[in-house]
Amino acid sequence: MAGQLRHMLRDDDVNHDEQKEILELGMKFWKDRYYHRPFAGPQGVAVIFDKPSTRTRSSFSVGVAELGGYPLVIDKSGSQLGRGEPVADTARVLTRMTSAIVWRTFGQDRVETMAKYATVPVVNALTDQFHPCQILADFLTIAQHRGGVDALAGQSIAYLGDAANNMANSYLLGGATAGMNVRVAGPRGFLPEPQIVEDAERIAAQTGGSILVTTDPREAVADADCIFTDTWVSMGEENEYAVRSKPFWDYQVNDELMKLAKPDALFQHCLPAYRGKEVTASVIDGPQSVVWDEAENRLHAQKALLTWLMGKLLDDKEMLK
Ligand code: CP
Ligand code: NVA
Repeated sequence: MAGQLRHMLRDDDVNHDEQKEILELGMKFWKDRYYHRPFAGPQGVAVIFDKPSTRTRSSFSVGVAELGGYPLVIDKSGSQLGRGEPVADTARVLTRMTSAIVWRTFGQDRVETMAKYATVPVVNALTDQFHPCQILADFLTIAQHRGGVDALAGQSIAYLGDAANNMANSYLLGGATAGMNVRVAGPRGFLPEPQIVEDAERIAAQTGGSILVTTDPREAVADADCIFTDTWVSMGEENEYAVRSKPFWDYQVNDELMKLAKPDALFQHCLPAYRGKEVTASVIDGPQSVVWDEAENRLHAQKALLTWLMGKLLDDKEMLK
């Protein structure tokens, strides 16, 4: 039977059971870094950056190598893509030489175009709209601290800060897919697009999760199992720094807000973090913070995702186990 070409462009590109399969694989890679080697050969995997990165660059580079493959890391400044070569032509070329394409870029339409013209799996390594690889790592972190992937459904997670950014959108869709109670809080003017909220609510209705979007940070964190935040100034918004410094102060994750969550609540941040802005040093460097596990889990989660995508493409069920 022919396999399926699947992509991970946004968090709801996988359903509840598929997300679980990927996270279970992530748990296995966490315990054994060489659990599967789908790119042995080695096969090339293109990892392209139109924006800066530390974690995504290192985790995909090391991850592809640990999967037996060759990470072909391409920067915007050193590629024709950066000089305006069409995305479709880039997809047609890379497809002939690589087994998967991972891309960090600006608009979601760009990764969608890449996926339309590629005949290998395409992975969104962050766009302005979504960061699905980060969400897999974050949920893997919760699973590790809560006794497994089955514990994810029913967890209450709260995200505070810029609720219109890629992380907020991804928590909404990814959390709904996992069957979590997702609370997102931000100031007026920085709340998610209605279409994203609608999509998350539709998914949550199927998985038993729930969605709350609010301007009240206290309502969001009340009895939460995990608190998340992110920078108030995302990549590409640097010239809005002054405007973006003011509206978010009530959403800073500090000791007072952490006390409203469950006593054993975890704190996560995709990083890079700005201490004294979106989170205090006392929280991110404190006992409830699991941000270094979270960063490491980019490696395990993405290896799981790439293996799962290759398993689907090759219709190799052993790779999904
Ligand atoms: N969290 C994250 O994606 O980090 P980088 O920007 O360093 O890749
Ligand atoms: N929202 C942030 C996430 C960084 C990993 C950004 O897009 O810059």
